[in-house]
Amino acid sequence: DSTTMKATAHTNIALIKYWGKKNIELNLPTTSSLSLTLDKYYTTTSVSSAEIDSFVLNNQPADATRIHHFLNMLRKQLGDFSPLKVISENHVPTSAGLASSASAFAALTGVVVHELGMNLSNEELSRLARRGSGSASRSFFGNFAVWHKGIDDESSFAESLNASDMPIALVVAEVSHAEKKISSTEGMQRALTSPNYDDWLVKSANQLIDMQSAIQHADIDKVGSIAEDNALGMHALNLTASRQPFTYFTDQTQMILSLIQDMRHQGILAYATIDAGPNVKIITTKDEASTIVNILKNAMPTLAVEVAQSGPGISYD
Ligand code: DP6
Repeated sequence: DSTTMKATAHTNIALIKYWGKKNIELNLPTTSSLSLTLDKYYTTTSVSSAEIDSFVLNNQPADATRIHHFLNMLRKQLGDFSPLKVISENHVPTSAGLASSASAFAALTGVVVHELGMNLSNEELSRLARRGSGSASRSFFGNFAVWHKGIDDESSFAESLNASDMPIALVVAEVSHAEKKISSTEGMQRALTSPNYDDWLVKSANQLIDMQSAIQHADIDKVGSIAEDNALGMHALNLTASRQPFTYFTDQTQMILSLIQDMRHQGILAYATIDAGPNVKIITTKDEASTIVNILKNAMPTLAVEVAQSGPGISYD
């Protein structure tokens, strides 16, 4: 039928986190954030015309509610278009799950705008994708990206951060998790009730400046230590929420965090960052990644571990 081009967007991992909305409808964040796009995890999406908005994920019919809501927002912003069948594939190596709404909403935004014959910059696409999922705003760009929090819809967008090449790698450790996950949106709303939230905002702004400088100097040790500090601060907000405090950490998360401490005592460059789940991503160098994988596998034989590197921006074919 009328299926045509495909867009491929890679997921990104925030080194300075987005963890709070000051406007839920517009997805305006309380902080600017900074990310590294990854090579191994991506979503490829195409669209075709249909009777109603529908969604097929990895060849299975899937719930289209969130996508339908997002397409309606695009119809308001870009001009009306007919219903679409959205066909997506998530590419996630072996079992280390890092499928994300970031790559999904970036690829969807890219393919729809292209199909409409519009030519928008990646910055403009990032503003639109932000409405689907905040972290998607950063997935149009390869390597490092900054999402400027902005003050309104117009000024809240992401852009590429110019950076010299550095041998950064990310070891992704997926811990098995049985319990039901708290969505990012819900987790953020709870975190906002922490009495420490305002301190975190101030700290995050300073960490963003320090992180940009560490990236300019290709100082991976500093990149890692700022990222870990920022991530642990985010998770401390969850624990100190005055409405429904919670944690994404499991025993295995804690165990990996303490292994990372041991590695650092051994002189290995290893720092943790953690998102809305129990998985730990370890920031390190390309050279040290395999040592870290070995230490993790020895200590925790059932752990699924992958090594990712810097990935590209959105592409179309
Ligand atoms: C912890 O982008 O998934 O990964 O905007 O509600 O869809 P919504 O949230 P989402 O949140 C990502 C949170 C994070 C940190 C980050 O990626 O910056």
